[in-house]
Amino acid sequence: MSLAPTAPLTLRGGLRTILAPFPSPAPTPSPMPRPLAVICLAAGLGKRTKVSLPKVLLPLCGRTLAASALAAVASLQPARTVVVLHHQKDKVQKSLQDAVGGMFARLEFVDQGAPKGTGHAVQVAMQALADFRGDVLVIYGDCPLITTATLQELCALRGSSPCSVLTAYPDDATGLGRILRDDEGRFCGIREHRDCSEDELAIDEINAGFYCFDSDALRPALASLTPNNAQGELYLTDAVANFVQQGQDVQTLEAADAAEITGVNSLADLAVARAMMQERILLEHLSNGVLIIDPTTTWIDQGVSIGADTKIQPCTVIGAGCAIGSHCEVGPFAHLRAGTVLEDHAEIGNFVEAKKTRMGAGAKAKHLTYLGDATVGAKANIGAGTITANYDGVHKYETKIGARAFLGSGSVIVAPSEIGDDAMTGAGAVVTRGSKIGASEVWVGVPAKKLKMRELPPRQGQAMSKDKP
Ligand code: UD1
Ligand code: MG
Repeated sequence: MSLAPTAPLTLRGGLRTILAPFPSPAPTPSPMPRPLAVICLAAGLGKRTKVSLPKVLLPLCGRTLAASALAAVASLQPARTVVVLHHQKDKVQKSLQDAVGGMFARLEFVDQGAPKGTGHAVQVAMQALADFRGDVLVIYGDCPLITTATLQELCALRGSSPCSVLTAYPDDATGLGRILRDDEGRFCGIREHRDCSEDELAIDEINAGFYCFDSDALRPALASLTPNNAQGELYLTDAVANFVQQGQDVQTLEAADAAEITGVNSLADLAVARAMMQERILLEHLSNGVLIIDPTTTWIDQGVSIGADTKIQPCTVIGAGCAIGSHCEVGPFAHLRAGTVLEDHAEIGNFVEAKKTRMGAGAKAKHLTYLGDATVGAKANIGAGTITANYDGVHKYETKIGARAFLGSGSVIVAPSEIGDDAMTGAGAVVTRGSKIGASEVWVGVPAKKLKMRELPPRQGQAMSKDKP
């Protein structure tokens, strides 16, 4: 199939179009030449989204907006990372700590107090970084599509200048800060949309919201900020202009792909960013040898690993944190939720939902099944309509199903229960809570009781009929 560059992405009646591939994810970046600290701004409420959830916690393919941005920066292995919070700070902090805390050597959170602008937010973060000297990379928690490679390039570009700024030429610059240049094209400032004159509004180069500062230069520039603008805020962008006023050069890097700098200020922006992120994820799996039959009806979250030669059938949803081996088959109409692991050659078929479930190598659940908190042994066969009843209304319980076990159609296994290796249940069996079915035992009925020992075919591992179920 061709994934050649086409028109820019649009949402047409909910259908996505395949757009030009994003740059491939950078190989492990080379170490940064100077010590690196990251500041992520995430204190704003996000009034323009009109929802009660803080904007930076809006979901984007299995990660929040801010966690997506932080995941991109984590590969640069910053020595320090400071996230600036305020609105619903406990909720935002817990969410980010859980999602990306393990990716950073040192992840810190500071409270901005009442947010007074992006410049104010960085002032507060720099208090936490009072003893830090080196590169300070500032990212905004509402720009989730940035890549590690672009951030690394931005830091490298700074050289001996006090600052480097990422810019872009999006199709629509509405609401964004415009890049001001002099007659020779040299950078001379950033003007927020609201503060622009008619002529300035016509400028199509915008500020993407990513900056690399020299820490020693940043401190006095922040001290010089005044709220002299339409919003009465301290703008970080004025600190950048300040360097030029002092006669210093500011470097600018144009983003290779304007999609990378998509900021989310409204739910419509979120829908566009989600579609872009989804494209990126699908293209990455396709390029790794995962046979995704219909990318337009396949939904795969960030942070999913899939081995080569695995086939993903249409209308399949795979949630964050799933790990799928090689030569597996998933779908059509399958839903793999967080924590699900498929070992090589495992199969999950039509209308099957799996949550926090491990399918051993070659295990199959092909039709109409729910597997929750289950461990399924190698080559086990889960019959059509099987349910692991893992929830009693208060707690969740685990189900263990042994290798080569064969569950008859319509079996209900009330957890916690165990089914031994090579064991079998009859069609419609209800295995009651706390049952332990021994190896090779056959249980049938409601409630299920032991009937006999299973007569296994002569060769081990050939328990199933050779006919396809
Ligand atoms: C900002 C830039 C604009 C740029 C755009 C790119 C400024 C003044 N403007 O505008 O030039 O084109 O991003 O997307 O920087 N935040 C805080 N504390 C505050 C204010 C904001 O932490 O006091 C956080 C927000 O939570 C958000 C980020 O900073 O994650 C950016 O704030 P936002 O209000 O979205 O700025 P924009 O209007 O998008
Ligand atoms: Mg914004």
